[in-house]
Amino acid sequence: MLKERKMGKKVTVVGAGFVGATCARRIIEKDLADVVLIDIIEGLPQGRALDLMESAPIEGYSAQIIGTNDYKDTKNSDIVVVTAGIARKPGMSRDDLLQINAKIIKDVVENIAKFSPNAILIMVTNPLDVMSYLAYKTTKFKSSKVIGMAGVLDSARYRFFIAQALGVTPSLVNAFVLGGHGDSMVPLPRYSTVNGIPITQLLDIKKINQINERTKNGGAEIVGLLKTGSAYYAPSASVVEMVKSILLNENRILPCCVFLKGEYGLKDIYCGIPVRLSKNGVEEIIKIDLTKEELESLKNSSEAVKKNIKKLNI
Ligand code: LAC
Repeated sequence: MLKERKMGKKVTVVGAGFVGATCARRIIEKDLADVVLIDIIEGLPQGRALDLMESAPIEGYSAQIIGTNDYKDTKNSDIVVVTAGIARKPGMSRDDLLQINAKIIKDVVENIAKFSPNAILIMVTNPLDVMSYLAYKTTKFKSSKVIGMAGVLDSARYRFFIAQALGVTPSLVNAFVLGGHGDSMVPLPRYSTVNGIPITQLLDIKKINQINERTKNGGAEIVGLLKTGSAYYAPSASVVEMVKSILLNENRILPCCVFLKGEYGLKDIYCGIPVRLSKNGVEEIIKIDLTKEELESLKNSSEAVKKNIKKLNI
């Protein structure tokens, strides 16, 4: 158990693998909240937590972290980040993880709902859009409190590739990738800018198309290089941007995977679109103008997600 809450806020991270442990590290290094790191493997979360606490004197953070195998310790969390599950191996698609991760996620979110009925869930496990839907249906939380992390990551990759092509510093680039977190994701060059200048005025269409394709394969490119796991630095940075917007009530507008009730012509589905993230979770779903083609791509992307949801018989 955490002896006392030092930071006033409590974030549970489920899964002490690379994504989970790096999320935990980023959260405490920024002193955003105290963290409970939970995993089914005995010793793993405890070891990671102790190692991180032993870095505190040097790094200078006050936030605390504990590792545990017991959901009781997660009680009354403000946010729960769910990273538990199996990651891809080279050659696997995110969808190949469907059945095995669905079992894990169902069990995890049932436990979370029991001990933290007011928490905001940030889902990270793949296939992300389907796992977010499963978590929403299983916990029966308000849909504004079950949010998937994908758009921030896909957009960060897009931003980096644009920055690299132009030779500018990455933080100057703003960009949106919408749709599902899969091969059918939808990069939006029209809404991607360098300090306000649309990239369509800075890069030729051939280069933009190349960058769009590389972005869609961004996760697989890393899996191919690592061979024994998938990305975790950029995924954890993306999670923590969402955590921060919620804990500090920043109201950032970010692309997130959320439940749609007819927006963009999509219904009863989780899909990546821009939202405003506040202390209440999804404060507002932002409706941006899309061309017929862009809307069509978004629809195709959500059809792919729907197919997988059907396979689970939720
Ligand atoms: C990726 C995995 C985490 O995109 O989906 O890297």
